[in-house]
Amino acid sequence: MRRFILLMVVALFFLNAPAQKYEQLAKTPPMGWNTWNKFRRDVSEQLIIRMADAMVSSGMKDAGYEYVVIDDCWAGMDRDANGEILVDKEHFPHGIKYLADYIHSKGLKFGIYSCAGTKTCACKRPGGYGHEFQDARTYASWEVDYLKYDWCYTENQDAKISYTTMRDALYAAGRPIVFSICEWGGAKPWEWAKEVGHLWRTTQDIVDRWDAMIMLVDKQKDLAKYAGPGFWNDPDMLEVGNGGMTTEEYKTHFSLWCMLAAPLIAGNDLGSMTPETIDILTNKEVIAVDQDKLGKQGFCFRHNGDYEIWIKKLANDEKAVCLLNRGDEEKEIQVDFSFLLKANDNYWPPDPSKLEDYKVRDLWEHKEVKMDKTTQYVKIPPHSVKVYRFVKK
Ligand code: GLA
Repeated sequence: MRRFILLMVVALFFLNAPAQKYEQLAKTPPMGWNTWNKFRRDVSEQLIIRMADAMVSSGMKDAGYEYVVIDDCWAGMDRDANGEILVDKEHFPHGIKYLADYIHSKGLKFGIYSCAGTKTCACKRPGGYGHEFQDARTYASWEVDYLKYDWCYTENQDAKISYTTMRDALYAAGRPIVFSICEWGGAKPWEWAKEVGHLWRTTQDIVDRWDAMIMLVDKQKDLAKYAGPGFWNDPDMLEVGNGGMTTEEYKTHFSLWCMLAAPLIAGNDLGSMTPETIDILTNKEVIAVDQDKLGKQGFCFRHNGDYEIWIKKLANDEKAVCLLNRGDEEKEIQVDFSFLLKANDNYWPPDPSKLEDYKVRDLWEHKEVKMDKTTQYVKIPPHSVKVYRFVKK
């Protein structure tokens, strides 16, 4: 009898087990590459294979990039008679599982795209609406590791309900898949998506221009408190290397994404990167700020006209500081390193850390800052940054 009761309790527990997302994923912001920013609708099997190869040969994989994600336009025009999603056979002649296998054989992970509405955004291929469980099973059978789920053609759909349905479908399909919510921030996903997905877009799409990029940064300013290990604000994918900004501007773009603990999803042609682009995307010291296991998003500590100070707390009582010159002229700034080390998001009381316990690294110069004086003058070119890390001695 006792055994029977125990069995019933266990059975009831599983029957009532709350639907959930896969919790053990994306404990640091996901890193990878996606087709959209550079290749738009022009996706194919050869492209994905070429990019997966380049991710390895360029050093991107060694730097931590992992997911190769096909964005919009991979699916066929219609579903089949059973409602199954089909693949665009012309551009993906061997199907999607073949690509997933190839990517896995390189030690990488595979991501795909769909949409919560009736059609996808640019290519108007079938969306997931009403087919969530069926599609999730298909993706699991293809061994997909990451799903970006967009928000076009959603008419009167409720965002929280729609994304929760897909979350439940992914969970029911039984394969751990990172769930990337691409709702652009309209329904304030930061307020509810922690339980639903692993990352959520906070804004409209990035554009490969300085002013557009910096506008996205401004929109992250009040969101730091919503992010943490397994649930990240996503200010959109990277434009580094796509040609619309200068090298300095791309350094700034990349640094700010790392200060924001943003997902680092490159969006350039990995097969034809300049040495400058490689240096930026594979700067391991700056990436370590993004990937820090404390998982705190950085915040804008001070702003004074075109000059901003961003702070990100790191594990082991360390700290990253980014000095940003948004202006069109070089700035010479008086920097008090002792003050920056003590900077705290609550402004008061300051952190008790003492500068003598730390070394200060310049993460773009890749060298230690000599602390002969704790207050120093630092030159910052226009649209540029200095990024420092306080490293425990
Ligand atoms: C939306 C998304 C983009 C991209 C395109 C593809 O605009 O926000 O990131 O996925 O759709 O159609």
